[in-house]
Amino acid sequence: MLTIFQTREEIQAYRHQLGDDLAFVPTMGALHRGHSSLLASAMEHNPITMCSIFVNPLQFGNVNDLDTYPKTLEADIDLLGKEGVRFLFMPTPEDLYGAGVDSPKIDIAPLHDIYEGKMRPGHFDGVLKVLYTFFHLIQPNHVFFGQKDLQQCMVVEKLIAQCFPMMELHICETVREESGLAMSSRNTRLSEEGKIHAAQIFKSLNEIGGNLDNGMDFNEAFNLSKEHFASCRIEIEYLDLINLPNMDAASHRKKETRQALVFAGVLEGVRLIDNVILD
Ligand code: PAF
Repeated sequence: MLTIFQTREEIQAYRHQLGDDLAFVPTMGALHRGHSSLLASAMEHNPITMCSIFVNPLQFGNVNDLDTYPKTLEADIDLLGKEGVRFLFMPTPEDLYGAGVDSPKIDIAPLHDIYEGKMRPGHFDGVLKVLYTFFHLIQPNHVFFGQKDLQQCMVVEKLIAQCFPMMELHICETVREESGLAMSSRNTRLSEEGKIHAAQIFKSLNEIGGNLDNGMDFNEAFNLSKEHFASCRIEIEYLDLINLPNMDAASHRKKETRQALVFAGVLEGVRLIDNVILD
């Protein structure tokens, strides 16, 4: 049975009854197969799993994006029930942030000002604020995040290292449609044709990855793929080869370094992100 906590006070009052071993999956709702897979990984690790559904206003720079963020609460609760999740935390912004938990300054340099940090000023401050607050209240020892938000995963790694060293971060592989399109709550805003075009993102990332493995430099590989994006009417915001964890740009594939291709772009007014980790 799913128990729903709606306030910080409820969490604080019941937390000690949940035991020392608690897995946590934070979400903003509109749950899809990507979330199911995160929840399944968490449950496999620990059947005492808490999920949160909270559309965090602090991480949206654009009010329209916040207002149009999909909300499917009834279906979400059904899905949590089916996955066997035991606890759901679903606070309001007023409750979560009112007379708030003070969060310390967390140093995420250089991630603050690049890629998602640059395109969405203030976004990671909002993510850090909500995650610090959740981790502090819920005290999970295992937390689960999707690789699709790779930069967010790197930010969480820094948050955990600085503030919650006993917590273990699990980065779960991106779940994709059959076409290769990464699952995202925002995909519901794409037309059927848009969804077909959006599948080009993963195809191109793999093609670039293959060319890099064959010794091509990144600029050349990227230039070859530009035409595919244009023919699918995808406007590229960024597409880079980066070194992990600090996401500094690289010009060549270095097999001994952990590298990834990161992408963000806009299609039919919908912002899409994706990445592949090269191994
Ligand atoms: O990835 C998300 O859905 C959000 O950024 C998160 C981690 C739930 C924080 O609001």
